[in-house]
Amino acid sequence: MTGPDTPAADGAPVRGAAALAIGLVVGDGRTIDAALADERVRRLATASPGAVQALVYGSLRFGLRLKAAVEPLLARPWDQQAPELRGLVLLGLYQLEHAGLPPHAAVSTVVDAARLIGAAKAAGFVNAILRRFQRERVTLLACADQSRALALAHPPWLAAALAADWGEAETLKLLAANNEAPPLWLRANRRAGSREALAAQLAAAGHPSRPSAFAADALRLDTPVDVRRLAAFNDGLCSVQDVAAQLAVAFLGARPGDRVLDACAAPGGKTGHLLEACPELSAVVAVESDAARAGRITDNLARLGLAASVLVADASRPEDWWDGVAFTRILLDVPCSGTGVIRRHPDIKWLRREADVRTLAGRQRRLLDALWPLLAPGGRLLYVSCSVLRAENSDVIRGFLQTRPEAEDATESVRLSLPGLPPAGGPGPGYALLPGSADADGFFYACLDKRAAGDSGRHA
Ligand SMILES: C[S@@+](CC[C@H](N)C(=O)[O-])C[C@H]1O[C@@H](n2cnc3c(N)ncnc32)[C@H](O)[C@@H]1O
Repeated sequence: MTGPDTPAADGAPVRGAAALAIGLVVGDGRTIDAALADERVRRLATASPGAVQALVYGSLRFGLRLKAAVEPLLARPWDQQAPELRGLVLLGLYQLEHAGLPPHAAVSTVVDAARLIGAAKAAGFVNAILRRFQRERVTLLACADQSRALALAHPPWLAAALAADWGEAETLKLLAANNEAPPLWLRANRRAGSREALAAQLAAAGHPSRPSAFAADALRLDTPVDVRRLAAFNDGLCSVQDVAAQLAVAFLGARPGDRVLDACAAPGGKTGHLLEACPELSAVVAVESDAARAGRITDNLARLGLAASVLVADASRPEDWWDGVAFTRILLDVPCSGTGVIRRHPDIKWLRREADVRTLAGRQRRLLDALWPLLAPGGRLLYVSCSVLRAENSDVIRGFLQTRPEAEDATESVRLSLPGLPPAGGPGPGYALLPGSADADGFFYACLDKRAAGDSGRHA
């Protein structure tokens, strides 16, 4: 998990590891997780992985603004600079602006790191860029801040798309929320007895928490910690899951005896919650196309003493894996842009491209079209995404509803049955929770009910 933005440890290995990891994200297109798992990064980070993580997350969270500020100082364009050099520069700028270090230490630790990671030639260049930034920072930052998107360290295409969807004022709130360090939400498992019992145990161990007003199992720790330090987590009494993700099970509304398909299931966070919340389901089939990720479903369920039938398959090709028995509930947690979870994954700011959104919307619609026939009449398909872009959410659902007269958007009536939930973030269909609202990640849900034969619709 993300630590505080100020690293606890000093030293060249920490900065070297952080600069390499940042370079792998911004120069090589890797995710933060993949970059931190890189062999060279891991070797340097051994003594202080938390400090490295804090520097990497912070640099990527604020880096688009800092990059824009120094670009005028570079003789060659940013994208043509070596990834390691880009990592060193971003790290140095982050240390100067956000990490609370004395300026000379902010610069010298990065210069030492450059030598350690074998970028000795870059050391002089990085030193010169950082010193010049120090001298001219007011002018350089003012210039970058002329772009509202860059002032809030976001790619301009994303800020423009959000403004088109949500308006200027809401977008500014949303971008600011994306730059906050995320809270740690836990989900009380049955083994804990109750959410209250879990909260009492956490408090006794020095970790006070507060319950969510609308998600029955959710607790927010007052101060985030590395969960591996929580006995309650190690004993399987709780799982880590954002409060917004915990709402999926409430919207799905599974009942005893239901046969449930979890269509895009890895790593199994929602599968586990579903099995915890509804122990008397007749079957749970979890489908995941990525074999390595599918293994994590089984592992995560085993940790909780749960099991499901896990299939490695393409959910959009049911002809390859479906046994022909209809499901009464389908959870479709689509692959998406992740624009609702940027506060947890600041690499999304660097890795996502505008063109991805249209591609993803096409995949999302294909999944929905392919799985709808597997739903029994009277059943419900819950479409979920962690995107805040309408193109992946209400637009997909609206297009689908236009072609399926037997489908009914039941989201609003389900939402009204969940007291305490913030009002909808925009017009339907579906329900959008924006990042930061109720301290939750940004998520979208649409409850699509299939009318039973002879039912001409609630409003007919
Ligand atoms: C948003 S994540 C699911 C998160 C999961 N439901 C949870 O709560 O832990 C989407 C998942 O869908 C998988 N996926 C993408 N396309 C798929 C497809 N066509 N069929 C099955 N799984 C797919 C991705 O590999 C990814 O693991």
